[in-house]
Amino acid sequence: MDIAIIGSGYVGLVTGACFADVGHNVICVDNDEEKIKTLQAGRLPIYEPGLEEIVHRNVSAHRLHFSSSIREGVDKSHIIFIAVPTPPQPNGDVDLSFIEKVSREIADVLTDYRVIVDKSTVPVKTGERVAETIKRYNRHGAKFDVVSNPEFLREGCAIHDLMHPDRVVIGAQSQHAVDLMKKVYEPFMAPVLVTGINSAELIKHAANSFLALKISYINAISAICDASGADVDKVADGIGMDRRIGRQFLNAGIGYGGSCFPKDVAAFIHIGEQLGVPFTLLKEVQRINAGQKERFLKLIRDTLWVLREKKIAVWGLTFKPDTDDVRSSVAIELVDTMLREGAHVTVYDPKGMEKARELKAIADAKFAASALEAVDGAEALVIATEWNEFANVDLTALKRRMTTPIVFDGRNLLNPDTMGELGFHYHSIGRASIIPR
Ligand code: UDX
Repeated sequence: MDIAIIGSGYVGLVTGACFADVGHNVICVDNDEEKIKTLQAGRLPIYEPGLEEIVHRNVSAHRLHFSSSIREGVDKSHIIFIAVPTPPQPNGDVDLSFIEKVSREIADVLTDYRVIVDKSTVPVKTGERVAETIKRYNRHGAKFDVVSNPEFLREGCAIHDLMHPDRVVIGAQSQHAVDLMKKVYEPFMAPVLVTGINSAELIKHAANSFLALKISYINAISAICDASGADVDKVADGIGMDRRIGRQFLNAGIGYGGSCFPKDVAAFIHIGEQLGVPFTLLKEVQRINAGQKERFLKLIRDTLWVLREKKIAVWGLTFKPDTDDVRSSVAIELVDTMLREGAHVTVYDPKGMEKARELKAIADAKFAASALEAVDGAEALVIATEWNEFANVDLTALKRRMTTPIVFDGRNLLNPDTMGELGFHYHSIGRASIIPR
């Protein structure tokens, strides 16, 4: 199939590369000319494991192209995917101006039948608006169908998620559009769910909010574990072995972050309010998530007494491992708060340093070249992201390089027994603290 993807961010680029890899002809379009030049020069504007190889392979095979022209994308393709940002507005509403603008631009150059597929996460009923807009601005009276095809990929394992989806959701009104979409996804051999457009749009917000709810649920339990001496990891194992519940997304920690969950939960609450159906359960999910970071900070303050002038190392800046993304990262919020309270903070992250350096909030932090360099002379170490590199660190060297070996593990990455045996003062989430006598 000939496919255009409008918007070459995480979702657009990964989708385009994977579609090309299964044999489709793909043009990835973006209005950021610098980004397109970077891609045309064979470099990637983002880090995602495995993506570079797939992009290079398909560019060489002439199946993957980059362009800054929507006209070129629409002219050369049967199916046009929209994968542009839908950022939150201060009032929780979703900013749909990029979707609206792209819809007008498609309308402007649309002369023959095309399927316009929305892949961006949008409020229910957006598809209706897209269809109205294209109809209104299209001077050629061209026929088209609008489809909703939400994306469920996770950063860090996006290629795997796209190549082996649990399900493909196709929300459409016309059978012809459904048939074309099924052809696009045929090579992936995934279960397909066909729905109306509104249901497909709702599935995305409902799925992400449910996953956020799962995380807040286990985080609320971690507070009960802290108060009662139970172990949250064991509780998660025990409830997760029930197949109706499942162990995934039951890892307690300092809360969820990233460009999806915080935004999507807020948007879903707002959508409910606009439809006259307040979704108060999700407000509690947000409250627990924010509270988890505060509980962690309180633990740090209670242990260190005063943060002012303390040398604190922070491992991890990205919102989760295997990505360079620091957007809405709880790690960044922690560093920001500790800096404001007068601590001297040294940070290290395997992939997130470049993007973190651009953030004003943590401009006063020192950036170390390695995990062990970051802890040189530190009075405490905070683990904020569960990178493998930190799990495999030489713990004896870690202890030797710290002034006082106090570790706050916000992701339950290390083993409390091992930390105790090595003489660390070790705190984690929802598990008993190890305090040397
Ligand atoms: C998420 C959804 O998983 C994906 O389906 C959707 O398309 C986009 O949003 P992503 O934001 O990339 O993907 O990351 P994810 O792996 O879901 O993690 C989100 C946040 O939740 C991270 O901050 C992570 O640390 C946190 N998390 C996840 C937990 O705190 N505990 C868990 O058990 C799982």
